[in-house]
Amino acid sequence: MSSQNIYILGIESSCDDTAAAVICNGKILSNVVANQKIHEEYGGVVPELASRAHQQNIVPVVHQALAKANISKNQLHAIAFTRGPGLMGSLLVGTSFAKSLAYGLNIPLIDVNHMQAHILAHFIEEDGFEQPIFPFLGVTISGGHTQIVKVLDYFDMNVIGETIDDAIGEAYDKSGKILGLGYPAGPEIDKRAQQGNPKAFQFTKPKVDRLNFSFSGLKTAILYFVQRETKKNPNFVKEHLNDICASIQYTIIGILIDKLKKATKETGIKRIAIGGGVSANSGIRKALKDGEHKFGWKTYVPKFEFTTDNAAMIAIVGYLKYLENDFASSDVMASARLKI
Ligand code: KG4
Ligand code: ZN
Repeated sequence: MSSQNIYILGIESSCDDTAAAVICNGKILSNVVANQKIHEEYGGVVPELASRAHQQNIVPVVHQALAKANISKNQLHAIAFTRGPGLMGSLLVGTSFAKSLAYGLNIPLIDVNHMQAHILAHFIEEDGFEQPIFPFLGVTISGGHTQIVKVLDYFDMNVIGETIDDAIGEAYDKSGKILGLGYPAGPEIDKRAQQGNPKAFQFTKPKVDRLNFSFSGLKTAILYFVQRETKKNPNFVKEHLNDICASIQYTIIGILIDKLKKATKETGIKRIAIGGGVSANSGIRKALKDGEHKFGWKTYVPKFEFTTDNAAMIAIVGYLKYLENDFASSDVMASARLKI
């Protein structure tokens, strides 16, 4: 590795968070995220509003990232940006901003796959956090994604399982909506689940091929269950909210852990590196720890701010690609359906 300090700016705008981060070699100097509150009242991300908010946020967010890192833009060696996957209108804002900044500063541009970045976030140097050893299973669980990826090397990865409908975070958020909770509902369901009985109510787990996931059936099952019980007792949800949350959480964790058991068996890989906003879930963390004792797994969870959508993960990929001279051409385009 070079003894010179390499500064890279990462920019993330794939969904509803506008984010910028500065990395120096493997260490994050700043990690700024502007969340878009506007979507809360709609109970989900509204693409047109997201794109407009990115346009308003991107310049101040980048300025703040540079200021917090205490460097000027002239010290940057490259600009890394999320090329995809994500919402086209959102991706375009980050892509065109990154392109013009790199062009203006006459430094290389580095395109980053958002899903690779969730996994490579584990390689940010951070005290108290261990980096996974290859090969490992990268498991990204968020409001937009549910993926199991076999990771052989930084840029040698294969998706071996993913959701065929809703993401795991959507299972939380849509269930929460049925229960009258705010958006996003994941954290509240998690909190209530810890005070409820996970076996109070039973929801059947879907049967899905191979290592793939399905969560849309669970949402429908919960909807019918709530409608049925509310007919008998209008206060049912209110009176049993913690037990309902605990039962939903128990089902979701069961679905995830079953697939991880299958994935570790099929691949012979027992190292599991988890990421995405849902990795904050207390029940999932506990189940993974239990897996260490029960099945001999070794599990990795990065620092929380690097698990939700953020630009630090884009910056670390930028750094890894910079070391390999893997740069984007100036006519690179955003790609909403970019694959790993
Ligand atoms: O990664 P993220 O911040 O944004 C993207 O989806 O890209 O993930 C947000 C998702 C939401 O669905 C939210 O409900 C869920 O993560 N979430 C949780 C918890 N904290 C956040 N789900 C379950 N338990 C939690 N503690
Ligand atoms: Zn994400």
